[in-house]
Amino acid sequence: MNVLGIETSCDDTAAAVITDGTSIRSNIVASQSDMHKKYGGIIPEIASREHFTSLIPVVSEALDKAEMTHRDIDAIAVTYGPGLAGSLLIGVNSAKGLSMSWDKPLIGINHLEGHIYSAWLEGFEPDSKAGFPIVCLIASGGHTDLVLMKDHLEYELLGKTRDDAAGEAFDKAARVLGLGFPGGPEIQKMSEKAQDKISPLPRPQIKNSLDFSFSGLKTALVRRAESDGFYPAVDDKGPSVYQTTEYSFAFQEAIVDCLIRNTKQAVLETNSKAVILGGGVAANSRLRKRMNEVIDIPIFVPRAQLCTDNGAMIGAAAFFHLKNGFPLQLDMDAVPNLRIGLTAE
Ligand code: KG4
Ligand code: ZN
Repeated sequence: MNVLGIETSCDDTAAAVITDGTSIRSNIVASQSDMHKKYGGIIPEIASREHFTSLIPVVSEALDKAEMTHRDIDAIAVTYGPGLAGSLLIGVNSAKGLSMSWDKPLIGINHLEGHIYSAWLEGFEPDSKAGFPIVCLIASGGHTDLVLMKDHLEYELLGKTRDDAAGEAFDKAARVLGLGFPGGPEIQKMSEKAQDKISPLPRPQIKNSLDFSFSGLKTALVRRAESDGFYPAVDDKGPSVYQTTEYSFAFQEAIVDCLIRNTKQAVLETNSKAVILGGGVAANSRLRKRMNEVIDIPIFVPRAQLCTDNGAMIGAAAFFHLKNGFPLQLDMDAVPNLRIGLTAE
């Protein structure tokens, strides 16, 4: 079964062709990050305008790369939430148009579910190699969720961020440290040169909960930067190279520790057999390394390119839904605040 997966929930215009939910025939991502860089963050209006002009060329490229035409496609899958309203609308409405003109089934996919199913694109086979339940940590610019995957397509939300998402915290910290956007990769790069010389930043914890909170950590960074005299920058003079590397390291360690602490607790509480990491922050090499050191059940982490937003993960998730039948969801709406699974009481 060949599925065309379309993803436009944030600032990447992406399309991919996936065979049987596991095999990537093509995976095209048109990144807008250069466009948003100059504003230090994502501007929603620019994001939707870019999706509008890029989506059809990206879909054509995905078909060309897969050496297919629309006749070879069995179904179209598109992210319908969560995400930026305007960005989602371009993807959903374009997918509806393609579905009607090509006469193909159409299915809407939850973006968070897509991040989880990235793990099926690497040949990991978490279901047969480890088995359910699986704890999934999805950490990106827009969300930080701990999800229990009880079986295929069956989820329970264990924890979420109460304020900033982990990626958002990286992006904000990078701004304080005078680094570029997106902040996560910049902070990771700087951390590699650090010598762990400054005292640690706090690791906020919510009592008796698997929820996260990162805004206090960001405030702690700002207060320390103010007392060290490099923030706000005066006459364009920001932190020294030493300060940038040491603060980057301290900040990254704090975020990584919070993510690992709650993931480990979730594994213990649910007696899970494996962990899946997804979302842009899962591309972080320190998180990947430390998670493997601290948690002693199998950890499945897709390559960085499949952790950040892409169409392949949408095509993969769709396959597992389509096994139960081919819908035609032409009445689908974009749902910007869509969640995954129900919260256990
Ligand atoms: O999943 P994603 O591509 O888009 C969203 O759905 O948000 O995630 C983007 C986020 C950004 O906040 C970026 O700073 C963060 O992921 N990110 C990283 C790394 N690469 C991307 N954070 C930490 N370390 C990285 N290597
Ligand atoms: Zn994402």
